Amino acid sequence: MNKGLWISFEGIDGAGKSTHIEGLASAFKSQGRTVTLTREPGGTPLAESLRAMLLNESMDPLSESLIAFAARRDHLNQVILPSLAQGDTVLCDRFTDATFAYQGGGRGVPWETLKTLELMVQGSGDSGQSSQIREPDLTIWFDLDPAVAASRLADARAPDRFESQPLEFFTRVQAGYARRRDENPSRFLTIDASQTKHQVWQQLTRGLVSKGWLSIVTPSTC
Ligand code: TMP
Repeated sequence: MNKGLWISFEGIDGAGKSTHIEGLASAFKSQGRTVTLTREPGGTPLAESLRAMLLNESMDPLSESLIAFAARRDHLNQVILPSLAQGDTVLCDRFTDATFAYQGGGRGVPWETLKTLELMVQGSGDSGQSSQIREPDLTIWFDLDPAVAASRLADARAPDRFESQPLEFFTRVQAGYARRRDENPSRFLTIDASQTKHQVWQQLTRGLVSKGWLSIVTPSTC
């Protein structure tokens, strides 16, 4: 059996990660891996209910963080850890870096508060708290100038509470992602999301081939 592999995908709204997650799911499947494709907030019935609250109800920044981590705890225990245990490739559209970027960078929740919640929710051991944090093997960050992302979003569907935020908010979110990347350089693969879809796909797959996780650069599906 293949060893389980866990990859998360991050970036500000409009950075263009969704198309590529689908493409990578197909590429991994065509190479014989069983793929669990999931997202945050969400991925379980409870976490999807919490997602609807987070995206639609107004609340203070700490409450946003607590809801994101409550959803994460259910998702981790019900979906991610069991899938990894059976050797699946877990592709997760956003994970904890999004909370640091949006609630930490964007809303100003102290980094240390989020670190405490991360340890409580993702720490190994029965009741969390152990210093071993369960996190993705790799995080692919779609790095894009917030002004470019905003222009891409302009024609998109009706915006949710986050997508409708001003440019300054996304500039802070972007800085939050950069801080997380700088704190965890070996876990991050930074993709220049200002390139064409085809170039983004090439950079993405080359990165996975160099890690030995894809055996060839599969043609772009975009
Ligand atoms: P999505 O549209 O990419 O699925 O993401 C949903 C929104 O939720 C997106 O604007 C980012 C935001 N979000 C947070 O604010 N905190 C979090 O912890 C997560 C996972 C997402």
